[in-house]
Amino acid sequence: MLPTIAREADAVVMIDQRRLPADEIYVRCRTAAEVARAIRTMVIRGAPAIGVAAAMGIALGMRRSSATGTQKFAAEFYKTCELLAATRPTAVNLFWAIERMKRAFGTGAEAGESVDQIKDRLDREAAAIHDEDVASCRALGAHGASVVPAGARILTHCNAGALATAGYGTALGVIRGAVEAGKRVTVLAGETRPVLQGARLTAWELVRDHIPTTVITDGMAGAIMRMGQIDLVVVGADRIAANGDTANKIGTYTVAVLAREHRIPFYVAAPLSTIDLRTPDGQHIPIEERSAKEVTHLGGRQLTPAGAGIRNPAFDVTPHRLIAGIITERGIFRPPYAETLEAAMAEARRLRG
Ligand code: MRU
Repeated sequence: MLPTIAREADAVVMIDQRRLPADEIYVRCRTAAEVARAIRTMVIRGAPAIGVAAAMGIALGMRRSSATGTQKFAAEFYKTCELLAATRPTAVNLFWAIERMKRAFGTGAEAGESVDQIKDRLDREAAAIHDEDVASCRALGAHGASVVPAGARILTHCNAGALATAGYGTALGVIRGAVEAGKRVTVLAGETRPVLQGARLTAWELVRDHIPTTVITDGMAGAIMRMGQIDLVVVGADRIAANGDTANKIGTYTVAVLAREHRIPFYVAAPLSTIDLRTPDGQHIPIEERSAKEVTHLGGRQLTPAGAGIRNPAFDVTPHRLIAGIITERGIFRPPYAETLEAAMAEARRLRG
């Protein structure tokens, strides 16, 4: 499986997603600050993957701490959490993973563990977050395979693949699950301006897996739907609000509206760590604004005239009424999402004990 991110004793190693598909280069982050920079600059991206990176960054940062007393160690720990939390605002998996690290820290501190014992505990928690994400993606892929018709032509947007998770992927997990179930599918990858996660990353992953893939520009989706050449849309998510409204890469909303017009089922695939019951609806999801340079420049060349205004919201919100189902590791949830998601999260809490 594709090595998105891994932990070494003195580093967090990640494939540099800015350089794919041309170069397969691995970046070695040796401090929590380097991990934070890697998340901010999108060396690593995708909601579950940045959660895993944050957890590993915190564990690495604390492993390197020279504090001997628990008070100084605790102060450093919370500062490191703040550093990672300030990297990207939209994907809730980032904050979910940091919360888990804080809970692990609290458990160790309350039990009177030594600094070294807490360091071990933080390493174990980060590894568990990584491993559970792979397991969740595989499970949601198996559930999602059931909504994929044999021979389906599937449109996806952005990259919700192995690169965006600890492995296997969410939307691409559903596609991989369908293929593993013996279905022949073809994939249309929307290029995803301005960072081109679809053209660069989704196509790269699927070509490696020998899954037939065609890249289209974002503006082509409607015309191809109208030609009757798309059977299903599956996308990932950065944050799913309590009512099912879903933030995902900019352009997802457009695809969802087009899918409704053409009566094509539109599914969201995400682990439960992407569901945020504390955010009531899409209006309350913070949307990251990224640098104008992502829009004005391509491969170092300026595309737009000086003086033109530029917008660059990195995500949009798809209203829940456009979503046919939310595919998770615990099954596929259907409307009314306000009820089904709350019940799913309550059940997950009960199972965790
Ligand atoms: O800005 P990015 O590349 O981090 O945005 C990623 C997406 O929008 C993905 O679709 C989402 O995180 C789901 S990843 C399984």
